[in-house]
Amino acid sequence: MESPFKVDILKGKVALLTGGGSGIGFEISTQFGNHGASVAIMGRRKNVVDRAISVLQSLGIPAVGFEGDVRKREDAKRVVKETVKHFGKLDILVNAAAGNFLVSAEDLSSNGFKTVIDIDAVGTFTMCHEALEYLKKGGPGRSSSTGGFILNISATLHYTASWYQIHVSAAKAAVDALTRNLALEWGTDYDIRVNGIAPGPIEDTAGMSKLAPHAREWLPLHFIGEKWDIAMAALYLASYAGQLFC
Ligand code: HXC
Repeated sequence: MESPFKVDILKGKVALLTGGGSGIGFEISTQFGNHGASVAIMGRRKNVVDRAISVLQSLGIPAVGFEGDVRKREDAKRVVKETVKHFGKLDILVNAAAGNFLVSAEDLSSNGFKTVIDIDAVGTFTMCHEALEYLKKGGPGRSSSTGGFILNISATLHYTASWYQIHVSAAKAAVDALTRNLALEWGTDYDIRVNGIAPGPIEDTAGMSKLAPHAREWLPLHFIGEKWDIAMAALYLASYAGQLFC
């Protein structure tokens, strides 16, 4: 599909994406790269990261991959640092890494609950925390007046209630809270914009195949979102237009 945006709207920007090697994260990586950004991907599975990087490079996108787990602070620190070492600065952090499985609340162990909270919520906080010194105005490679941008990928599961998703609902509610609170604190103090996108069911993703194989039947207009839709929203938020209005 043809992008509604000019091809250079992220020219000169450096983006780091957790979970950027697959699903929605990979589509955002690709579209950021197609619109001028240099892209770093962090993921747990080396083969997935490697494959994603070769695709991006074959499209002419400057891209580098790092194996790492957002649950480990040392991984977060290393990947943020290596990204800045490789590209000279960091402008955009996208937190798209997530864990998910279907299980009833009765059958979910405390450790199962904690695992998803650790990946989605604590992992997002850790990445933001490690990226702060590079994203704040006056940080390495930045002007003294303009901060960077953080985008957290959430969900809509927790707006009401969702079967067999108590852990993910709690984790994504926490991610939304992080987004609002960081937008308040870091927007005020450091000119960092912090936004969230909460996708519903999205075609051709792990979330969709696990959670909502029949989603089309109960959705208004029987229309299921595509990864491209989320990537375009992300692009808007990360661009100068997003800077003006969000
Ligand atoms: C019950 C489970 C389980 C399952 C893991 N656990 N899978 N419990 N049912 N299917 C429990 C384990 O028993 C263990 O608790 C604890 O969780 C940790 O499990 P591990 O396998 O040791 O953890 P780990 O190897 O780190 O894997 C974590 C993971 C991850 C969360 C399971 O591998 C994963 O889910 N990967 C898939 C990623 C994914 O699908 N991403 C898409 C997200 S989509 P005990 O007590 O036994 O020690 C999304 C959007 C939602 O988020 C919106 C859609 C509409």
